[in-house]
Amino acid sequence: MNINECVFLITGGSSGIGESVANYFARLGARVAIVGRHQHTIDRVVNEIKEFGGNVIGIEGNVTSEADTARFINATVAAFGQLNVVVCTAGVISDGTMLTLDKDTGKVARKLSFDKWQTVIDDDLTGTFLTLRDAAEAMVNGGWEGLLVPISSVNKIGQIGQLNYSSAKAAVALMPKIIIGEFMLRGIRNIRCVGIAPGYTATPMLTGMNQDALKAILEDVHLGRLIETEEIASMIGHCVVNSALNATTIEITGGLCYPKGIAK
Ligand SMILES: NC(=O)c1ccc[n+]([C@@H]2O[C@H](COP(=O)([O-])OP(=O)(O)OC[C@H]3O[C@@H](n4cnc5c(N)ncnc54)[C@H](O)[C@@H]3O)[C@@H](O)[C@H]2O)c1
Repeated sequence: MNINECVFLITGGSSGIGESVANYFARLGARVAIVGRHQHTIDRVVNEIKEFGGNVIGIEGNVTSEADTARFINATVAAFGQLNVVVCTAGVISDGTMLTLDKDTGKVARKLSFDKWQTVIDDDLTGTFLTLRDAAEAMVNGGWEGLLVPISSVNKIGQIGQLNYSSAKAAVALMPKIIIGEFMLRGIRNIRCVGIAPGYTATPMLTGMNQDALKAILEDVHLGRLIETEEIASMIGHCVVNSALNATTIEITGGLCYPKGIAK
């Protein structure tokens, strides 16, 4: 696939990794649709990209809504005539241990709330499923060459305090294998699926966290710094042009050394 001939759809494209991916591919001449939850942040990124002459549209939408996924995929095809690469960066974290004890009594003081559980499962897992499903439908019916890119996380291995997030990201990491197996079964040959599992990356999700905790995390990273969002974007670019990459989830972590990090 030639990047400058592709139409990209990026969920969560109005901040962090998604914003960087949108900028990266627009600069390379691709047509780009970004989906986000808030019109003002979408407008900011759309204006940024238009300033350097990029071909971009912004669509407000929530990936957890079936009506919205169908709408933003249809809107992308209506604007650009096709759809080739879908990058699912929309996601959230909502951390906490499953149980927290009262220091004095040793009894359970707090449980991970159903809301914290469900929000992360909805955004990170269900939202990714709905986006991939509806994008694949459009690619099959349109007959376009396509690449589906679900975004997992290195924490798919099971991070303490992230039962919800790690469960969702582990499931997302499995999707490429299953989806491509199903495409084989159904004779769908025009779409590949490659997941990306980033390590700790310099985005608002991380730069806003407790800086001592961040320093401790970086002690476990061989690279010794956060990954830059452009490094994730260029990895996705490689997936676009290399047709041999398929049915797998690729880690890009800077060399995160477990189990030391996970045991903290
Ligand atoms: N930053 C990291 O270190 C890191 C590491 C591994 C994986 N990831 C994953 O990469 C992806 C992007 O993370 P980021 O760090 O750029 O975060 P971010 O918070 O900067 O961006 C996430 C974007 O997704 C949007 N979003 C969330 N829920 C949505 C919904 N229901 N519908 C539409 N948009 C929604 C948010 O509004 C935001 O714009 C996430 O899936 C995250 O889990 C991040």
